[in-house]
Amino acid sequence: MVKTIMIGDVVGEPGLIALERELPFLIHKYNADLTVVNGENAADGFGLTEQTLNRILQSGADVVTSGNHIWEKREFWSVLEDNKQILRPANYPQNVPGRGWLKIRKNNVYWLVVNLQGRDKMKSIDCPFRTFDTIFMAHGDTNPPVIAVVDFHAESTQEKEAMGFYLDSRASVMAGTHTHVQTADNRILPRGLAYITDIGMTGVQDSIIGMDTQICVDRAVKQVPYHMTCALGESSIQGIVVEINENTGKSLSIKRIGHTASEPD
Ligand SMILES: [Fe+2]
Ligand SMILES: [Fe+2]
Repeated sequence: MVKTIMIGDVVGEPGLIALERELPFLIHKYNADLTVVNGENAADGFGLTEQTLNRILQSGADVVTSGNHIWEKREFWSVLEDNKQILRPANYPQNVPGRGWLKIRKNNVYWLVVNLQGRDKMKSIDCPFRTFDTIFMAHGDTNPPVIAVVDFHAESTQEKEAMGFYLDSRASVMAGTHTHVQTADNRILPRGLAYITDIGMTGVQDSIIGMDTQICVDRAVKQVPYHMTCALGESSIQGIVVEINENTGKSLSIKRIGHTASEPD
């Protein structure tokens, strides 16, 4: 049996502080074989910098996934090209910076980490379903099986559930990201895929998706796109830990990690 930890979008300095404080303990506590962290909001809420990427990697991430905010810092585009541990969604059209999947060997197991982005209420990029097919056909269908772990960065619950069932029997885990609010629907699908609609957010939970509450309320009420800044205060980590049979690729359990804003420690 092998284990993977996946951590939800790290938002700004409070998110990085929570990650640095809690992730090493979680990796040790669960004896995790692979750790994946979504870092798309690490640089003050918008994208990544080389420094914030390094802080996430030094906290224990083996692979850093991302999403729609990955393009925010132009100076980071060269890092996307040079550093194999940072992924952007794989289903952007060809010839954009970076890559969307990584095959790595860790603790005698081959892992295929794939980052995809949804299209419902998001940019109409290439098809995430067929993009997975192409990647899996080329790199995932091996014996012994590669353990395929997917971060599906998407807005729509329906599209995320569709992806879960589409990947069931090929991928071992489909973890939703992007909406920043952890969902309570973690479950094992019929053919062994560990599924959750959203693994949550690493940052200030008593906030609006990790950002300053008043600014977000003003944006909603006044319909003016005021610049959002990160919420300040107590921060914590959210994500999942999944147990997988490395011989069959089937997941055995999926458990949520972290606290919600309303729950006491
Ligand atoms: Fe995000
Ligand atoms: Fe996002």
